[in-house]
Amino acid sequence: MNVLVFASRKGGSGKSTLAAHLGSYMAEHSRPTLLIDADPQGSLALWHQVRGAQDLPLHVGTKHLAATLAKARRAGAEWVLIDTPPNAEAPVAEAIWHADLVVIPMRPGLFDVDAVQATIQMCRDLKKPYAVVINAAPAKSGSDDPIVADARSAMQALDVPTWAGQITHNPELSLSLAHGAGVNELNSRSSGSEEIGNLWRALTRSFEAIEAMMDKHAQSA
Ligand SMILES: Nc1ncnc2c1ncn2[C@@H]1O[C@H](COP(=O)(O)OP(=O)(O)O)[C@@H](O)[C@H]1O
Ligand SMILES: [Mg+2]
Repeated sequence: MNVLVFASRKGGSGKSTLAAHLGSYMAEHSRPTLLIDADPQGSLALWHQVRGAQDLPLHVGTKHLAATLAKARRAGAEWVLIDTPPNAEAPVAEAIWHADLVVIPMRPGLFDVDAVQATIQMCRDLKKPYAVVINAAPAKSGSDDPIVADARSAMQALDVPTWAGQITHNPELSLSLAHGAGVNELNSRSSGSEEIGNLWRALTRSFEAIEAMMDKHAQSA
């Protein structure tokens, strides 16, 4: 079971957006997935309510996280997606503690690059694998937009693993959420859908690499 936590101290970076679109992608591909909305703002729970479907179970709140995860594992969940509030407080630390991988969505920009550092530090302190995902980026025209290139160099200078792809700023991502869907369900051949698919494949590869590393550690212990 892959526990993916979306975290960033910065509000509006795209935590709930990515959690919902990936959730919808999992549902479309019949991957048993549990959504956990650990943000009192309740964005993911709202999307789930609008969706009104049974394909993605949802747990709301931060209490009993360990028990919720154990139950999901017993029920055969392959993925757990945990959305968290934009702060660096105890519930976020607890979610990160349970994570196999932390996704830190980051808009490209000075303030955003600065703001993610608290979250990166939490992941480092808790020794959790993490990756920054550049979100709401200007569309690529061949190479990265200069603002994205800047954000990537800042991450590289800080030795922060950053997904090589990007999620482009795209109104279809908001529009589909308003209908309780993911961009893949709105238009499976859109560029937004392709980007979410690319992100999913990159995350899958990361989990495989993390598992292989864990197995190696277990064998040498
Ligand atoms: N790639 C994107 N393209 C267009 N709009 C986006 C994108 N990512 C996020 N948004 C919009 O930005 C706002 C904040 O995103 P949200 O996921 O709620 O951030 P967070 O959960 O980190 O606070 C929402 O209105 C969302 O629809
Ligand atoms: Mg949110």
